[in-house]
Amino acid sequence: MKDFEFKMPARVKFGEGISKQIGQVLRDMGYKKVFIATDKGIVAAGIIAQIEEGLKAGNFEYQVYDELIPDPTIEVVDEAAEVLRKSGADVVLAVGGGSPIDTAKAMCMLQTHEGSIREYLFGGTKSVTNPIMPLICIPTTAGTGSEMTAASVITNNQNKTKVSVTHENLIPKYALIDPMLQLGCPPFITATTGMDALTHAIESYISNRANPISEAMSLQAIRMIGKNIRTAVGAGSAMEARSNMAVASTIAGVAFMNGGLGVVHGIGQTIGAIAHVPHGVAMTLLLPYCMERSVVGNFEKFKDIAIALGKNVEGLDLRDAAFAAVDAVFEMAEDLRVPMRLSELDPAKRQCSEPITEAMFDEIIEDVMNYRLLADTPVKITRDDVRAILEAAL
Ligand SMILES: [Fe+2]
Repeated sequence: MKDFEFKMPARVKFGEGISKQIGQVLRDMGYKKVFIATDKGIVAAGIIAQIEEGLKAGNFEYQVYDELIPDPTIEVVDEAAEVLRKSGADVVLAVGGGSPIDTAKAMCMLQTHEGSIREYLFGGTKSVTNPIMPLICIPTTAGTGSEMTAASVITNNQNKTKVSVTHENLIPKYALIDPMLQLGCPPFITATTGMDALTHAIESYISNRANPISEAMSLQAIRMIGKNIRTAVGAGSAMEARSNMAVASTIAGVAFMNGGLGVVHGIGQTIGAIAHVPHGVAMTLLLPYCMERSVVGNFEKFKDIAIALGKNVEGLDLRDAAFAAVDAVFEMAEDLRVPMRLSELDPAKRQCSEPITEAMFDEIIEDVMNYRLLADTPVKITRDDVRAILEAAL
């Protein structure tokens, strides 16, 4: 067995309606002035109003900042960090999906570090050295797992890339997992964010950096998602399915922070930056094609995934059992009625900013080859592999 280290410093509290206990959490931690970082969609959904009730009841001072956007840019992060600096708050409460939480991590980091977020992104001139301003997260989707991880993914509009700042100091202090807040999440978002969580679980399980603890968490998340995603999408008010998806997403977040990711995220991040394909949509679409290309790297692990997703592999030889995992994910995508081809993505439905065509492949491949976590994939991914995945998925 290889040496390994396992990180999980965030404290997690799960419960139906647990976000109403925010006042108690803040009191226990000794904070007095709260900066709520969120977006306008979360405010419109009435989620901030519920959290405000808890803050008012506890006589906390607070400020709501709802200018955060999907796929946060360097400019948005720097501006939000400036507003936070002037607020006098002693804690940040990030409420939303992956984008507001990632932005909040970067904002908190910039309170204790000089300069622009641009300088701290992967390949930049500065690095994270200090503890960051305390951050509490309340995720409103079951998918990104960002409430548990050390990464903040930022879009650089100048060169159309998505790059992350990753450091263990960015791990939030506390996560409140409240599936009640996710009940209103529409079926398409539930499906695509859930498939993002499944991608975290599968990529971290097959990753070359996986360790026995991350593997246990990855497999448990795969099982929970396999059993619950269809019900969460099809019958959005099914509380037990929502609860399972919320917890599975959090588990998968810890699993990938420790075990790593791979080619699905490599290509997904690139098409997210080049054509604004939402992260969950990119993951949903690419996961089965990337699995198909990686399965020869580890038949045993793919067989485990097939079993975790409920496939009956009895009597199959190892190769067929491994490929059953790929079938299971294709079937899941079909059942969830999500786009299964890059060419199906529709700018009118905000699934991309421009249609994805073969003409973009060279640019995409170039960027994917620079993806830091590509080496985690169980097979060596070459330019030809990325092209083959893109061609299969088009
Ligand atoms: Fe992801």
